[in-house]
Amino acid sequence: MKAIKVGLLGIGTVGSGTFNVLRRNSQEIRGRAGRDIEITMVADLDVERARCVVGPDVTVVSDARAIIANPEIDIVVELIGGYGVARTLVLEAIDAGKHVVTANKALLAVHGTEIFAAARAKGVMVAFEAAVAGGIPIIKALREGLTANRIEWIAGIINGTTNFILSEMRSKGLDFAVVLKEAQRLGYAEADPTFDIEGVDAAHKISLMSAIAFGSPVQFDKAHVEGITQLQAVDIKYAEQLGYRIKLLGLTRRRENGIELRVHPTLVPMARLIANVEGAMNAVVVQGDAVGTTLYYGKGAGAEPTASAVIADLVDITRLHTADPDHRVPHLAFQPDAMSDTPV
Ligand code: HSE
Repeated sequence: MKAIKVGLLGIGTVGSGTFNVLRRNSQEIRGRAGRDIEITMVADLDVERARCVVGPDVTVVSDARAIIANPEIDIVVELIGGYGVARTLVLEAIDAGKHVVTANKALLAVHGTEIFAAARAKGVMVAFEAAVAGGIPIIKALREGLTANRIEWIAGIINGTTNFILSEMRSKGLDFAVVLKEAQRLGYAEADPTFDIEGVDAAHKISLMSAIAFGSPVQFDKAHVEGITQLQAVDIKYAEQLGYRIKLLGLTRRRENGIELRVHPTLVPMARLIANVEGAMNAVVVQGDAVGTTLYYGKGAGAEPTASAVIADLVDITRLHTADPDHRVPHLAFQPDAMSDTPV
């Protein structure tokens, strides 16, 4: 069957990760998707750097519209970030009948209503597993695994940068500014880290989870948002002496009069699992009426963890749009070419 053709808008950290994982695991991915998934075009302002990442077989352009206008491209992956150009390009891609995969939580938290309405009208998908908690498949868990539940609340460490900063300040006694620089060097922090440290990035993510869990519009504008910039090493030390860790949590809860949505530093008793999530890791706790409490843990940022989520969306879209019914149910179809070893 014909390969699904993908165009990447932006090939920075996540884009490179996506390209590399898709190549490395092409056999497994083909088995699960039912078709090859190929990145055939990449748009980036730095054409030379992009060429170095993707090599000679992929067309590299500086104008993203060349991808959107190409009738061969089935799926556009938006990895530009921000609300401005990204919004225009995503809407243009939808209008051109392309499915869209994005890791852009800011875009969806602010313009999600408009973007999802446009996608519905056009009959295309906008998938965003990578936008929330990086490699943790939390969107899928909320939409699919927990679909029988009335979700009561969600609480999560959903910004790796701030969790890394709080962990390093506590364990090594380092200053906020020093650890922030390290988080930027490691690629956890956004280019402009204001959104990380002021809690805005976590608010984007909790708003998206809240909308899925409670079936409401994305209500980022109603969230209470407080970051970690006012915290000092001494606060962390006193909290520890009282048996607590300070964590920047995103919280959403169903209330009688509406949905509560907040992000702020929170005292978490040390005995709780989530209090012991350290470094740039993310963890999300979801309380459902049937399932009870569930916990999801993993890397919330970085090239390949985020690529893992981007590719999961590519596979989902490919599977749902393939003519081969064997692949509509994930991972049940026998994949003769996926294993070379004799079963033991
Ligand atoms: N800056 C984000 C974080 C990246 O630190 O979690 C992943 O969304």
